[in-house]
Amino acid sequence: MSRTADAPQSAETGFVAPSLPGTSSLDWPELKQKVRDCTACKLRAGCSQTVFGVGDEHADWLFVGEGPGADEDAQGEPFVGQAGKLLDNMLSAIKLKRGSNVYIANVVKCRPPGNRTPEPDEIATCLPYLQQQITLIKPTLIVALGKTAATSLLGREATLGSLRGTIHDYHGTPLIVTYHPAYLLRSPAEKAKAWQDLCFARQRMAT
Ligand code: URA
Repeated sequence: MSRTADAPQSAETGFVAPSLPGTSSLDWPELKQKVRDCTACKLRAGCSQTVFGVGDEHADWLFVGEGPGADEDAQGEPFVGQAGKLLDNMLSAIKLKRGSNVYIANVVKCRPPGNRTPEPDEIATCLPYLQQQITLIKPTLIVALGKTAATSLLGREATLGSLRGTIHDYHGTPLIVTYHPAYLLRSPAEKAKAWQDLCFARQRMAT
């Protein structure tokens, strides 16, 4: 399975149109199998396993990160390292728990080498898997963790700061943007803003 080699890339934004034929009709077992077998981009050769996603497949809350790191690559589950511990604390702060009405996924399913940001063609190749996860979950709210998740789902370039505090639309599903937990570990002073975002998300869910 390969992305069409000539999928259009915008010169302005660097975005490559997502293209992975046949993904949009898959059910959960088929989608999991397809991700497991995927060799559609260069990331697969450098990781130990694909990291599909975890949680309640009918969750109201979907949290989306960037891509697996070393711990996730080793364990096959998103957000299980230090950033994952912080994410679990962030969930707990708004009375949520991994796996209980919450699903956690990443934009790319394979660990980028050295934890670098996934490249536009890698995002475009992998994005249809996340899109199909969203179709199957039908979440009430998507929380994009960090700029890669936010801009990949919204399909446009923007700063994280400019995307916070607004309810965006992902094909009819509300989407809220906050900081990536790994960034918060490096910049703990920003945790207060992430707390604001989480409260905003909680409020949105209550309406
Ligand atoms: N960072 C991510 O974006 N996703 C993970 O699963 C872990 C760290």
